[in-house]
Amino acid sequence: MQQNNTVIISDDQNSSLAKKISMDLDVEYKKTELRVFADGESKIRLDNVSNKNCIIIHSTHPPTDQHLMQLFMIVYKCKQDGASDICVVSPYLAYTRQDKVFVDGEIISINLIGEILESLGTTKLITIDTHNPNTLNYSFPTIDLTAIPFLAKYIKKNIKLNDPIVVSPDQGGIERAKKFAEIIQANMLSLIKTRDRFTGNISISFSDQQSLEKRDALIVDDMISTGTSIIKATEVLKENNIGDMYVISSHALLLDDAKEKLRNAGIKEIISTNSIPNEFAKIDLSNVISNYFLKQ
Ligand code: R5P
Repeated sequence: MQQNNTVIISDDQNSSLAKKISMDLDVEYKKTELRVFADGESKIRLDNVSNKNCIIIHSTHPPTDQHLMQLFMIVYKCKQDGASDICVVSPYLAYTRQDKVFVDGEIISINLIGEILESLGTTKLITIDTHNPNTLNYSFPTIDLTAIPFLAKYIKKNIKLNDPIVVSPDQGGIERAKKFAEIIQANMLSLIKTRDRFTGNISISFSDQQSLEKRDALIVDDMISTGTSIIKATEVLKENNIGDMYVISSHALLLDDAKEKLRNAGIKEIISTNSIPNEFAKIDLSNVISNYFLKQ
């Protein structure tokens, strides 16, 4: 990495993470000026970045489409200025769950995001624990970094557990939960989640033989959005006389009253990263991201 030619760019929301990364890498930091008008349109100002290697730090959490549009505007400005490289770091990338045609006629929106980023001049995309990294099949390189080892080490160091069991709320999250279980040296189990593709309703079942009696559960998921998946998982675990329950999630969106609902469902603690601003962030992703660039 050419330090004197590299610049880290972010808006105010992502500035705490972006500033730490710029200090770790010892490169310049530029904050965009952002104004959101009453009708929801954004206006962005960024100093000239001609001939610079631009690293844009920008999560796309709710308001999702607004944050995405702001990302597109920043990439567009970098390209217009004649940046030599445009790397987008989106710790939380939206639309990753729209990765298949589940019902005839649907759009694979995550492919659309890739096409827009490519057309704007993006040369690389970096995400953290994205829903399914295999679906980011873009024409430019995509790299999915992980916070799972850091989350697991945090639990190991800070929380006293009784015969813990790591739980994946669905089969898509098995690899993530497995990695987590290996680090804390615990068993894992995967619940089975099914979703009605028309109503969106989910149901979760459990067919494992191992006893959960009084064991503490660490439910590991990529993201908590409405909290419904985790709440459904707690119902199954409680039927099996589980002990304390914790949620470990890279991306804590926690929409509406998800936090209260999780608490009422018996979740003792939520442990997350700072991919998006949230009160449960125990893991700072700046190390994960900076280490990647320092190794280049
Ligand atoms: C889906 O498969 C994801 O891994 C998450 O489990 C899900 O998106 C979380 O959303 P919610 O909190 O709304 O259930």
